Amino acid sequence: MSQETITQKRDGFSSRFGLIAAAAGSAVGLGNIWKFPYIVGENGGSAFILIYLISILGVGLPVLLAEFIIGRRGGANAVRSFKKLAPNTKWPVIGWLGIIAAFMILGFYTVIAGYTIHYFLLSLTNAFSGMSSEQITQTFHHFSSGHTPIIYTIIFTLLAVVVLFGGIKDGIEKYTKILMPGLVGIIILLVVRAITLPGAAEGLKFLFKPDFSEVSINSILDALGHSFFSLSVGMGTMLTYGSYISKKENLSTVTCSIAVADTMIALLAGVAIFPAVFAFGIDPTSGPGLVFITLPNVFLQMPGGNIFGALFFLLLFIAALTSVISIFEVIITYVTEELNVNRQKALKLTSIAVIIIAIFCSLSQTPNTTLSFNGNTLFDWMDLLSANVILPIGGLLIISFLGFIMKKDEVADELQQGACSIKTTMIYLTITKFIAPLAIAIVFLTGIQALF
Ligand code: PFF
Repeated sequence: MSQETITQKRDGFSSRFGLIAAAAGSAVGLGNIWKFPYIVGENGGSAFILIYLISILGVGLPVLLAEFIIGRRGGANAVRSFKKLAPNTKWPVIGWLGIIAAFMILGFYTVIAGYTIHYFLLSLTNAFSGMSSEQITQTFHHFSSGHTPIIYTIIFTLLAVVVLFGGIKDGIEKYTKILMPGLVGIIILLVVRAITLPGAAEGLKFLFKPDFSEVSINSILDALGHSFFSLSVGMGTMLTYGSYISKKENLSTVTCSIAVADTMIALLAGVAIFPAVFAFGIDPTSGPGLVFITLPNVFLQMPGGNIFGALFFLLLFIAALTSVISIFEVIITYVTEELNVNRQKALKLTSIAVIIIAIFCSLSQTPNTTLSFNGNTLFDWMDLLSANVILPIGGLLIISFLGFIMKKDEVADELQQGACSIKTTMIYLTITKFIAPLAIAIVFLTGIQALF
């Protein structure tokens, strides 16, 4: 082996902006723009938002910080980082769970991500023009239960591979530094359009005036579970990104910036959607179809609606792309470091596997599918098992590892850098060490119970 290979430096983020763009890009995804607004709609609006904010602070944020600390300290993929920090223990199983979850999430996530390309093209070509709301609903069901989504899923996955090809600095960082400001620009434009519509105030009231009568125990569980999914924690994604963070970076500051960015974008997505939904007298509680059925109806009634529609689906596409690449990276970093395969080959193998899983997930949406068990399709199972089971278990193990297993001086050392007071952070971690595991355990047990 040449000297050059031996001393080759591990790839890494080259600037704080690049790191935040990539990590916030991971956090901001379909969860913020597709899922958050519809679960807010189903759970009675702003009272739910309040509970969600508490979950982010009490559970999501500590797990996010823990992943960054473990990742940077371990300096390797999710499995090896645990091996290095706790040799000869079973803790690396967290990394394994993360890799399984990565395949499962990619399996269904790339299918919905593919829909965004189709809906972007439909909006751009004004294809909804003259359609009744019945026809818009049929268009969605016809499309999602056919074979066309497979083509879009493959296109989407290949686009993600293009971004991933250049590695961290020249791939993920380079692209997210352009895509994320683009995403913020589009969402601001959509917010301005939505709040200047006549009748928009009703939507804002729905979002910001708390009505606790709609809050149930399920809303609390939804809020907790979603705070994990939304911050991309519990499966080693942020841990993998953490392993590429420079020692100079202040992890507490970065963690807070990402949580704030993620929450702001979710709220802005709500502000872009609900005033428009109310302005055109459409039911805000329409569930997962909100984005692909309700919104085309809204855009159809809006002046210049096809352009705003196209912008909205472009926004959704960018959000999905920057999340998908982060999930891929969990697997790619593992494969390149553990199996001694180069990045190109790792990408080829991983993307083929993801496309195969996604094809099955997509086919499970077709009528008379045999890919469904116990009342849920394969697509639903991938979503339920990863988000309701693996992420909470992963989060629980990660926060416990940081709180009870990792050496205090190693944690302190990782928190030394930068302006944020180490004392404050340690106090915060100590409190959350007990609150977070309890909350996560409750979500997990209830999630499991809901499955069977
Ligand atoms: N945070 C992403 C979203 O809100 O859509 C989803 C996600 C990305 C979950 C990365 C998990 C992950 F590791």
